[in-house]
Amino acid sequence: MTSDTTTGPRTVLVTGAAGGLGRTFAEAFARRGDVVVIADIDRAGAERAASELSAGGLTVVGTGVDVTDAASTATLAALAAASGTGGIDVVINNAAIYATLTRSPFEDIDEAEWDRVMAVNLKGPWLVARACSPVLNGGARIVNISSATVMSGSAQWAHYVASKAGVIGLTRVLAKELGPRGITVNAVAPGFTLTEASHSLIADAESYGIERGSIKRPIQPDDIVGAVLFLASPDAAFVTGQTLVVDGGRQFL
Ligand SMILES: NC(=O)c1ccc[n+]([C@@H]2O[C@H](COP(=O)([O-])OP(=O)(O)OC[C@H]3O[C@@H](n4cnc5c(N)ncnc54)[C@H](O)[C@@H]3O)[C@@H](O)[C@H]2O)c1
Repeated sequence: MTSDTTTGPRTVLVTGAAGGLGRTFAEAFARRGDVVVIADIDRAGAERAASELSAGGLTVVGTGVDVTDAASTATLAALAAASGTGGIDVVINNAAIYATLTRSPFEDIDEAEWDRVMAVNLKGPWLVARACSPVLNGGARIVNISSATVMSGSAQWAHYVASKAGVIGLTRVLAKELGPRGITVNAVAPGFTLTEASHSLIADAESYGIERGSIKRPIQPDDIVGAVLFLASPDAAFVTGQTLVVDGGRQFL
C-alpha cells in the first residue's frame, strides 16, 4: 500500500515554493493530480515555476505573497480556495528565511534580523494558517516545515533555530484547535538538504553532516517529499501535532 491513497484532486497551497524544497513539494502534489498553488515573495519565481510545471501538463498556479503580511495572506487564501474544486485541502507552510541569514554568536545577532526571522519563519505560518482556516475543507491537512536543527541546537544560529522550534509549538496548538474539525496539523523537520539555498550557505554542502548520519549520503529534496505526502494523506488521518524528523538518522529524539 502506498502512503498516498486519496482519489480525486485536492487543492494544495505551498508557500515559499519558487524553488528549493517548496517547489519539490509542489511538483510532487501536482504529479498525483492535485491543483497546486505556489506562493512566494519572489512572485516572478513563483510564476516561472508554475509555468514550467504547467508546461509538463500539471495544474499549478503561481502567485506572490508576503507571509508576514496579514492582508497578503488573506488574498492568497482566497485565491487558493478559488483555484480548485472549492476550499483548500492541504497547506504546506514552507516559506522561510534560511540561507541568507548571518551566522553569529547570539550576543551579536542583529536585532532587526532577529525580528525579521521571527516574522517570516514563525509569524508567517500563523498568519497563513489563520487566513486559510475559514476556507479549509473538512479533513484538511497543514504541514509546517520546521528543521532538524531544532533538535541539535546549531551554534551561531539562535534566531533561526528558535523560530523553527516555535513552529513545532505552533503545530501542537493548531492541532488541538483544528482537531475538532477533522483537520490535522503536523511538522516535518528536514536535516541539512541539498537545495540551492544550502549550497549557498555551506561550501562543502555535498559532504556536510554525512558522518553523523545512519544513512551515509547527502539528503536530497526528494528524500523529504514522502514524509510531507504521507502527513497530507488520508493514511495520516489520526496523526496530528507530531514532528517527523527526516534526516537519514543523523539524530534520534
Ligand atoms: N535546505 C535545508 O537544508 C533545510 C533544512 C531544514 C529545514 N529547511 C526549511 O525548508 C524550507 C525550504 O528551504 P529551502 O532550502 O528550499 O530554502 P529556500 O530559501 O529556497 O526557500 C525558502 C523560500 O521562502 C521564500 N520566502 C522568504 N521570505 C518570504 C516571505 N516573507 N513570504 C513568502 N515567501 C518567502 C523565499 O523566496 C524562498 O523561495 C524552509 O522553511 C527552510 O527553513 C531547509
